[in-house]
Amino acid sequence: MIGSGGREHALVSALLSDPAVTELACAPGNAGIAAAVPTYGVDLADPSAVADLADEFGADLTIIGPEGPLVAGAADEIRSRGRAVFGPSAEAARLEGSKSFAKAIMDAAGVPTGQAVTATDVAQAGAALDRFGPPYVVKDDGLAAGKGVVVTDNRLVALAHADACITAGDRVVIEEFLDGPEVSLFLISDGRTVVPLQPAQDFKRALDGDAGPNTGGMGAYSPLPWAPADLVSEVVETVAQPVIDELADRGTPFVGLLYAGLALTPDGVKVIEFNARFGDPETQAVLPLLESPLGQVLAAAAGGDLSRGPRLVWRSGAAVAVVLAAEGYPGTPTVRDRIDGLAAAEALPDVHVLHAGTAIEGDTLVSAGGRVLSVVGLGEDLTEARTNAYAGIELVELRGSSYRTDIARDAAEADSSAEADVAPEPDAAPEPDVQVDAPPESTSEAELS
Ligand code: AMP
Ligand code: GLY
Repeated sequence: MIGSGGREHALVSALLSDPAVTELACAPGNAGIAAAVPTYGVDLADPSAVADLADEFGADLTIIGPEGPLVAGAADEIRSRGRAVFGPSAEAARLEGSKSFAKAIMDAAGVPTGQAVTATDVAQAGAALDRFGPPYVVKDDGLAAGKGVVVTDNRLVALAHADACITAGDRVVIEEFLDGPEVSLFLISDGRTVVPLQPAQDFKRALDGDAGPNTGGMGAYSPLPWAPADLVSEVVETVAQPVIDELADRGTPFVGLLYAGLALTPDGVKVIEFNARFGDPETQAVLPLLESPLGQVLAAAAGGDLSRGPRLVWRSGAAVAVVLAAEGYPGTPTVRDRIDGLAAAEALPDVHVLHAGTAIEGDTLVSAGGRVLSVVGLGEDLTEARTNAYAGIELVELRGSSYRTDIARDAAEADSSAEADVAPEPDAAPEPDVQVDAPPESTSEAELS
């Protein structure tokens, strides 16, 4: 397992419950992962180093968590050495790494998404803003190229961001605003076919009520009781399979996890973004509900034939993941503070703690990143799952830390109220002038080595 965040801790936990997984190691990991499996240091930006580790370990399967190593070509390097890897090639990972590439693929495959214009100078950008009107959506084309996505009603702010993106990377993507609740759907692909996981919803803003700056994700829940019953099959048919087919036709099959970030607009489901890896923190809420042996499923995908793996079976009930953020996050977080209370939280029934930015200093567990950990609550329904998650996170002590108190609240209330028939829209309404892309930390790397 490659990576160091809460997502990777959730993957490690799920893999360890697969009887076919006889040995597991993680690089670089975090304090929670290190308590479960051996961990090794590795430079994630160096594909040869990642592949060397897979060789040294004699790995039958390497699973790559974050997008950085994928875009850098780690999966290609491991594959070229004859080893199985779950994670797309650098070329296929451009689906996440380049917004204009993703748009071109969706165009060619007839996938519903917002209209977009790639502009290479400010005059073009201004014309595109006027064509779409407010709220304006302005996206940096590249991955961690820096300034990310701005959604704003202020044309001057939109234009300034476009100008900055063009200055830094020669182009900018201006997009139509997509209105409606957001859904994260993960699909496992063997390069030809896809198997969907249960959908989840992510809470991107730092503060309750979707206020404050954007983050890597402050919490998530699954399943979505309010989502249309045919949502997943519709997305497979209209989004995922066409994209997988298009990449296969181009000779660059996508083997790995296709993350479809969707908006349920009044005109139907539309793609906001693709990622080429599991989402964080959605993975922490989705995987605890999976009954099937994950290692065998991912190995079948990596081997090019999902039909040879087990079918996906889900347990009934719900999961809610609440992220504990360090002081300062999503700006520069305070690190190296002592964390207490985890044993008490983990002793509660149906409560699991998944580490992200944690490290051991001496004998002490300390914070080592912006998103420190997530507490996952399980239950018969969302109400019970969130009660458990919050009972757990209340026991965790970290000076200056915070968490949102409204993760899955609207969905739980709507679910338990008989007359409710309206989907909650926790992430739907942007506030003016807010930088909504995640800072580089968002891909859940621990920050202290
Ligand atoms: P992205 O990096 O593309 O995922 O964008 C980050 C966040 O910005 C998304 O999760 C949405 O909340 C918001 N966003 C991005 N594109 C759009 C759009 N076209 N319409 C509305 N919101 C958007
Ligand atoms: N939770 C959003 C992401 O993983 O990109």
